[in-house]
Amino acid sequence: SRSYTIAVLPGDGIGLEVMPPALRCLEAAAKRFGFNLEFRHFPWASCTYYHEHATMLPKDWKKDLQACDAIFFGAVGDPATVPDHISLWGSLLLFRREFDQYINLRPCRLMPGVTSPLANREGKPIDFITVRENTEGEYSSIGGRIFEGTDRETVIQNTVFTRIGVDRVVRYAFELARSRPAKRLTSATKSNGISITMPYWDERVEAIAKEYPDVKVEKYHIDILCAHFVQRPHTFDVVVGSNLFGDILSDLGPACTGTIGIAPSANLNPTAKRDDPNQEWLPSLFEPVHGSAPDIAGKGIANPVGMIWAGQMMLEHLGEKEAASAMLLAIENVLKEAKNAHDRGESNILTPDMHGNGTTEELGGEIEMEIG
Ligand code: NAD
Ligand code: IPM
Ligand code: MN
Repeated sequence: SRSYTIAVLPGDGIGLEVMPPALRCLEAAAKRFGFNLEFRHFPWASCTYYHEHATMLPKDWKKDLQACDAIFFGAVGDPATVPDHISLWGSLLLFRREFDQYINLRPCRLMPGVTSPLANREGKPIDFITVRENTEGEYSSIGGRIFEGTDRETVIQNTVFTRIGVDRVVRYAFELARSRPAKRLTSATKSNGISITMPYWDERVEAIAKEYPDVKVEKYHIDILCAHFVQRPHTFDVVVGSNLFGDILSDLGPACTGTIGIAPSANLNPTAKRDDPNQEWLPSLFEPVHGSAPDIAGKGIANPVGMIWAGQMMLEHLGEKEAASAMLLAIENVLKEAKNAHDRGESNILTPDMHGNGTTEELGGEIEMEIG
């Protein structure tokens, strides 16, 4: 029967809390739809590991991950004890680059049962997807400090856009827009102020748009685009942005739908193929959008939906479409039912970020049961 090997990296903080219910949901889906998931648990890519080994990863990390079909990642970061750039460049950001996961897909939907002050504008749903460039742009390692400690202290970090890097993410976004009913693409830019790299981004969007006459394209500078996200989130379809702009928009979007706790993300290398002797296997990575949330870690109240939904995206990517659909439906059903209970004045299992008093385990367990 069909079988997949999954690298499990829970990381830090609430990553450790949302991972177990998400794995149980995946197991329930595998059982119901007749495939097998082998989970390989790794303690590294965490600040706990860093404290013991003074490094985020063991020597063989790449081999271990390349032996898997996909990577399921919680969240990394313990800013009280390890600087964030050390823990993140030593794990997640390194994986994105080493495995050339150049697409970061971040769907944003107003889910049934989740309340938001921005819900039902003009009676329309919120349902768009951010396509974030994931390997270059503002997240570069080119730059440095000079004259340190003097009054001429200077810090420089260069943004890098390559033709290949920009074109492949923009083209992916156009293809995605073409496949959706609304066929609209919004490009995030800042070519009025960032006068070298962002005009280049605009130029490539315009050039590639010629290949997609059926897709309606618009561009907005990132500042006003943030305002539009808040004022009319229901009007967006596919939104494409550079690494930094995509990062910002993918927290803002889910916040507009009530909470970032439900948002998933897929870090994809869409062209990699396993078992092709002519290319190196570069696995994709699935994770919630949120981080390790030190402010609520250890309380058992983190929203597990972002992690579970990321698992759903992983099954979709692995080709288990039926199981993926069933998982999404289960999430929706449970959230809706919990909200109904809330409205009847009964205690409910929504986590506090969704205005309930449920726990990670209660909500995750209910979704697991609903999957069947
Ligand atoms: P964060 O996403 O961890 O938390 C932001 C706020 O949202 C907090 O108030 C938190 O309690 C809340 N929140 C986040 N996820 C939630 C959930 N599932 N349920 C309920 N509430 C939730 O962002 P931050 O505070 O900027 O970062 C904390 C640490 O996580 C830092 O070390 C940061 O670098 C790291 N981080 C890691 C990732 C990742 O591994 N992918 C992503 C973002 C941030
Ligand atoms: C994300 C995170 C990361 C990013 C951080 C933790 C480096 O915010 O995945 O959105 O900026 O890409
Ligand atoms: Mn982010």
